[in-house]
Amino acid sequence: MNRRKFLTDTCGACLAMAGLSASFSSCNPTRYLTGTLEKDGLTINKDEFKAKGKRETAYRLFIIVQNEALQYPICVYRFGEDNYTALWMRCTHQGTELQASGNYLQCPAHGSEFNNHGRVTNGPADKDLRAFPVTINNNHLFIDLRAK
Ligand code: FES
Repeated sequence: MNRRKFLTDTCGACLAMAGLSASFSSCNPTRYLTGTLEKDGLTINKDEFKAKGKRETAYRLFIIVQNEALQYPICVYRFGEDNYTALWMRCTHQGTELQASGNYLQCPAHGSEFNNHGRVTNGPADKDLRAFPVTINNNHLFIDLRAK
């Protein structure tokens, strides 16, 4: 690790723990929720991304929706107030459930890695993750599960 990366990583972690900046929200504990299952998809409240900051509102990078009606969880990344992705946490290599770690999803089976848009960044997987369309309705996100 070079000096610049070390300083960026360690200083960012310290600031996040101190609640000093909304942009360093990856240190917040992972938020799991079930969402509300509807006919064609799931609804979650946008406020679920809010994390407690001492001085300003902080936002989680992602939340994980686990619903017993789903075979795999869905990781929902927040890029901004009106910009989200919803990714099926099933590895495209051999179907292992993925683990979310910051802006990446990693496979514990053979090491495949995907970015927060679902694109493969490290094999052996060679296909991107299944992504569901997300629409915003006032303060709610609708994850359309009909999309293939
Ligand atoms: S099942 Fe995920 S890398 Fe093999």
